[in-house]
Amino acid sequence: MTDEMTAQLPSAAGRWREQLASWAIPEEILARAPENPWTFPVELFVSRAEAARRQLSYSNHAALVALPEGGTVLDVGCGAGGASMALVSRARLLIGVDSGSEMLAAFAKQAERAGVAADTVEGRWPDVADATPAADVAVCHHVAYNAPDLDAFTLRLTDHARARVVMEMTIGHPQSRLNELWLRFHGVVRPTGPTAMDALAVLREAGLDVRWQQWEEPRPGGFARREDLTGWVRRQLCLPADRQADVDEACGAWIIERDGLYGFPDRPVVTVWWDGSAR
Ligand SMILES: C[S@@+](CC[C@H](N)C(=O)[O-])C[C@H]1O[C@@H](n2cnc3c(N)ncnc32)[C@H](O)[C@@H]1O
Repeated sequence: MTDEMTAQLPSAAGRWREQLASWAIPEEILARAPENPWTFPVELFVSRAEAARRQLSYSNHAALVALPEGGTVLDVGCGAGGASMALVSRARLLIGVDSGSEMLAAFAKQAERAGVAADTVEGRWPDVADATPAADVAVCHHVAYNAPDLDAFTLRLTDHARARVVMEMTIGHPQSRLNELWLRFHGVVRPTGPTAMDALAVLREAGLDVRWQQWEEPRPGGFARREDLTGWVRRQLCLPADRQADVDEACGAWIIERDGLYGFPDRPVVTVWWDGSAR
């Protein structure tokens, strides 16, 4: 391949951005959506945060070994604290960043229940990075597919961590689980990429010396009521409430119940970690 041809290839960061943009919902379907299809249900992430304190995951271990006793943790896209609540045995302070105020309120409540101090910063990362203090360890679980500018996003995580950054993401795009339903209800073929491997390429291109591990273990948490799970699926599919029974029927067979909570089967997850550069 000539230098000229190589120069024309899109960068890994550019491919990531393009692939994420391909998940935009077709205009005519979005225009008819009765509710916002992109919201995250607070209840689900509260249950994840509660479960995180009972069961340590691979990602939690990767963060704990780098966290000094009495250290500080920055949790970006914290939700209710699914990534950081597992670290309270060593942490003195958790700093939660999230674009959603309800999530931050849930995060503060979880921290209080866990008996650890917490600060919150509301806004989108990396836009709020300058207003956010650095920490010993930065964690960021299940946010990467929401970050079109993944290179800038991860570089600001890097300069906010003194010891280590730990990121966790599903191997495939979280929405790809619903692809079959998009075809069934709308006749629309949804994308399949990007994947966690594309994210790794972006991070390496940004100069980060990343290590990673794929794993598959039960990730506890879910909805207390089955209809709240299928209601979320219906909203993501941009369908009105009167199609609820059709959605229940279409995804009913996939639903699992664990510890009294309803969810979908676990999918492979990737933990990615690298050194921080904050002083
Ligand atoms: C899928 S949830 C994951 C929550 C939590 N990290 C966990 O693993 O349980 C994604 C969270 O990231 C937040 N979020 C998405 N993009 C963000 C961004 N660019 N900056 C800050 N928060 C973001 C959402 O509001 C939501 O609370």
